[in-house]
Amino acid sequence: MKKQVIANFKMNMTPSEIKNYIISLAPNFKSEKVDITLALPFVALSLGKFLLSGTNIFVGAQNLSEEESGTFTGETSGAMLKDIGVQSVIVGHSERRSKFKETGRAINKKIKIALKNRLQVILCVGETLTDKNSMKTLSVLSGQIDEALKGLYENELENILIAYEPVWAIGTGKVATSKEIEEGVKAIRKSIEHSFSKKAGDEIGVLYGGSINAKNISQIISCKGVNGVLVGGACLDCANFMHIISACEASK
Ligand code: PGA
Repeated sequence: MKKQVIANFKMNMTPSEIKNYIISLAPNFKSEKVDITLALPFVALSLGKFLLSGTNIFVGAQNLSEEESGTFTGETSGAMLKDIGVQSVIVGHSERRSKFKETGRAINKKIKIALKNRLQVILCVGETLTDKNSMKTLSVLSGQIDEALKGLYENELENILIAYEPVWAIGTGKVATSKEIEEGVKAIRKSIEHSFSKKAGDEIGVLYGGSINAKNISQIISCKGVNGVLVGGACLDCANFMHIISACEASK
């Protein structure tokens, strides 16, 4: 699998600012070695698709509705995202779990709707500091994965990437050590193996996210079992993001 580099813009930058960002980024990106996805705010998705046509940079959404269509004011469906050419969607980000009270059941419904609409899913899982301090990291990760992937067929995993994002590392400047990352990634693969098969556990794409920056990226991307990264704050500066991409290209 090519290394995956996903930029999560969160609720940052206006469409005009994103336009300028893409104009700076796109001509500088030629790599065949990594896949880049920009997970943009909803209002910038169509613009992003338009500006990135003819490049090999993908456009992703940061969320979708757990419902297919209907009386859900303010929601955005999987079919709508697919229709405008969005390729992937982040599901189960810890900010959605904690600030929007998204449950495991809702995350499972969202994943099924995304897959039905042929959108790649970037499923985020991770433990809080309390979980970590009470040695619950591994059971939290497997619990989140079991809930999220309930009822899926093994062949559907081809369209799912799992991002290990320790909640205590997101936006805090505290990065997990290589050992912690490798243990988390291993636990994720084990839980996929347990629910599906050894082959599925070995082949699923696993990313790391949480306070990644241009300085720590080389260490993170070289961790065993890590197929890519989900970058938040550090992607907002285009030059910085380009450093992160270059480090991923340089990694074995
Ligand atoms: P961060 O965010 O890089 O700012 O820690 C990562 C994420 O939330 O996906």
